[in-house]
Parts: sequence; structure tokens; C-alpha cells
Amino acid sequence: MSNTLFATKPIDQLQADAEHKGGLKRELGAWDLTLLGIGAIIGTGIFVLTGMAAANNAGPAVTLSFVIAGIASAFAGLCYSEMASMIPIAGSAYTYSYATMGELVAWIIGWDLILEYLVGAATVSVGWSSYMCQFLNNALGIHIPSTWTTSPFIWVEAGKALPTGAISTGQFFHNAGAVINLPAVVITLLVTMILIRGVKESARFNAVVVFVKVAVVLLFIAFVGPKVVPENWQPFIPEPLKDPSTGEPIFGKFGVTGIFQGATTVFFAYIGFDAVSTAAQEAKRPQRDLPIGILASLAICTVLYIAVSGILTGVVPYGDLKGVSHPVSFGAERAGIKWLEHVIEIGAIAGLSSVMLVMLMGQPRIFYSMARDGLLPAFAAKIHPKYGTPHITTAITGVVCAVAGGLLPIDILGELCSIGTLFAFVLVSLGVMILRIKRPDIERKFKVPGGPYLVPLLGVATSGLLMYTATTATIVRLFVWMALGLLIYFVYGMRHSKMRKA
Ligand code: ALA
Repeated sequence: MSNTLFATKPIDQLQADAEHKGGLKRELGAWDLTLLGIGAIIGTGIFVLTGMAAANNAGPAVTLSFVIAGIASAFAGLCYSEMASMIPIAGSAYTYSYATMGELVAWIIGWDLILEYLVGAATVSVGWSSYMCQFLNNALGIHIPSTWTTSPFIWVEAGKALPTGAISTGQFFHNAGAVINLPAVVITLLVTMILIRGVKESARFNAVVVFVKVAVVLLFIAFVGPKVVPENWQPFIPEPLKDPSTGEPIFGKFGVTGIFQGATTVFFAYIGFDAVSTAAQEAKRPQRDLPIGILASLAICTVLYIAVSGILTGVVPYGDLKGVSHPVSFGAERAGIKWLEHVIEIGAIAGLSSVMLVMLMGQPRIFYSMARDGLLPAFAAKIHPKYGTPHITTAITGVVCAVAGGLLPIDILGELCSIGTLFAFVLVSLGVMILRIKRPDIERKFKVPGGPYLVPLLGVATSGLLMYTATTATIVRLFVWMALGLLIYFVYGMRHSKMRKA
């Protein structure tokens, strides 16, 4: 049995599958793919988490946190690019693993990617909801009661005090007075409907939204940049906070460890470039255009992030960002540029919906690939006769995402998404090395620089380091999710796998 568990799907067969008639429509060029990448990347990370990481962990050195998270993402981005240029098939890391490490690992990664895409979209829907409510309230005077805008569950981390004064061991609590996060549900269902209508329509919607959100970021840089007060950058790396009882520096609270802890938080800002690879079967020239889409979107966003975080901590003393969930518009307000504040809010609302769009587009395409391989029921591979989209899996993804975003808090969702993505990065980096050794003959239109080991090993090390700094509860959740996935595989997938039947 172990032989078949680790049997790999021949790459030639994968390439033939990609040409399967009646499949997805090939309509996207390099430009569309780069916009898809930017659409997925710029979102909650820069618009919400930057302030938290600066205020709680890194101070002005949050800019270095962005550099570190950007480096980890760049290694992974290079590995994804090599894979995508070699195996331009819709399933992304799932398909790559099937070709390199066998069916069991492929299933594990496919199941893991649900955390990145579906849970990621749910995370962003919660961020969208808070930006939307704030905008409705501040700009239009419309107030939605918090009963309908907050999660009915909260998670209290181990060791933190409960409202009763007792110390928690880490558990869920019912958030009395909250029923559901309704705006999060509504935006998820709206995006799902657009996606069912067609990939070209979705790409068009995405292009408009990307333009708006990049414009907003550039306006921030152009107008707030000149207002920077360099003293706010001093000290650039604040002294670590000390534990009052022991006098020891606290891990992750400023100083060098704070920069790394900040990097783990802002890593979320980079998630999404790999979603470009899920659109492989809809790309006109995937082998050339996928690496362009992945690397160009990542490079553009890295530059923007470093500029925004540097300017933000230059106009607002980092301590003032504590508890601020809209740091970028707050920065404009502090710089005295009132008109820009609401413009940024509108840009963020639009920007977050495009992140959801790309993530909710990626997820059904992974389910589609898994169903084509027999690991999920065949109905998941059905394509709508008129719209040419995997409508059934798109609808299922949308409904599950709406339930998750409606009921769960942003921190739980965001941390799960990050750890799931990092795990995928590790496996894809390993896959690049394995394929270079096992199949050196396959044509690679793009190769990671520095030979078969350097970049992939650095990818494993940097992503592994960021995984290591996750909370215990998050790591436990990853294991529970994976255990559930393995159960489903052994009960269903293994028995229906087409490769085993062949
Ligand atoms: N990178 C995406 C965001 O920050 C997931 O929202």
C-alpha cells in the first residue's frame, strides 16, 4: 500500500490533463495574472495588521518585519514560479505535490490549501466588515448594531485573564450580545455570485478594484510621505519590554525578537501571490506568464508595503497605533489630510473585496483538480455549460466561507490561514528540489537561481521559522484539521482515486 500512497502522477499525464477538452476557458494574459496577484495580495495585511505589528511588536522596525516576511515570500514565490512554469495545471501546490511526492502528500497539501484560500477569504471578510461599518458610521452616519457585525465566538489564549478574573487555559467563549457578522456573510455571497458568472468577468472586476486600491496606496505615499517627522523613527528598534518579575526581555515585544514576531503577523500581507498559479488552466501562455504574474505582483507589493509602513511609523508615533484597526487612514488623518482618510477607507473596502475574489476563485479550482483525480466526488469537477466556471464548488466554497466569516473571530481565522500557507510553502520548496533530482529532463521555462538547493532550502528555513513563532493553539488546530483530512482520505479519496484504478 505504501507504494501506491506515494506513487506520483506522471507529469506528462498532468500536461495532457491540462489540455482536456471542455475544461476551463483560457482567457488570461501576463497582465491579467499580475493584476490577479496584486488583487490577492494587498488587503487586510497592510490596511489592518501593520498598525498592530508596529504598536505591539516592532515599533518603526515594522518596516524590517515587512522585509523579512517579503524575503520568505520571495523564496516561496521563486519556487512556485518554477513549479508553475513546469506544471501549469489548475491545482497549484496540490498538483505539484501529486507530481513530486505522491498522492498522500498531494491530498495533505490540497486539504491544507483550504486553510489558505477558504479560511483566508473568511479572514478578509471579517476585515472588510469592520472597514465597511466604520465607513458607514463615519462618512454616512449609518450605524449597524454590533449584534450583527461581530463574531458570536471569541477565543481567549492560554494564560490570559478571562472577564471573570480567572486564568484561561485557552478556550472558546460565547460573545454574549453578538449573533452573526452579517456584512462578512453578505460580501462573501456577493463575491461568490460574481465568480460563478465567469472568470473573464471576475478578472475585469478585479482589474478595476486593483487600480483603485493601488491608487489609494500611492496617494498615501505621495501626500503623507512629505509629512514624515524623522524623530518618530527614533529609536528605530525600540528596547525590548522586560518581564517585571524576572527582569528578562519578553520574547516578541520589541527588540530583535519583536521584528520577527512582527514578521509573523505581517506575513499575512503577502499571502495571495500563489493564487496566480491556481488560474494556470485559464492562462493563455501559462509557462511564460505564470512566473511573470507571481514575481511581478510580489515585487510591486513588497515595495509598496515597505514604503507605507515606513511612512506610517514616520507620521504616527508607533505607540499611538495601539488598538487602531484602520492604521493607514488614521495615518492620513494624523498628517492632517482629512480628505484622504475616507478615500483610503473606500480603497480598503474595494481592495479587501478583490482579495476575497481571488481567494474564492482559487479554492474551487483546487477542489476541481482534486475531483478530477477522484479524490473528491465527481460533481465537484462539473463546469457550468454557459459560464465555463466550476459553479458547484464555487457555491459550496462561498457558503462555507460565509459561515466561517459570520461566526469566527479574525485572529483565529488569520492565524490558521498563515500557518496553512507557510506549510504549503515548505512543501512546494521541497517539491522543487525533489523534481530537479527525479526529473531533470522536464523543460522548465523558469528556474530558481542558484541551483537546485539554495533557494528551496532558504524557502523551507524562512517559512519554517515563521511557522515556529505561531501560537500553540494555532499549531494544534493545524494538526486537528490535518487529522480530519487524513480520515476523509482513507475513508473516501483512497478508494476512489483514479490513479489507483488505472
Ligand atoms: N494578503 C492578503 C491580505 O493581506 C491575504 O489581505
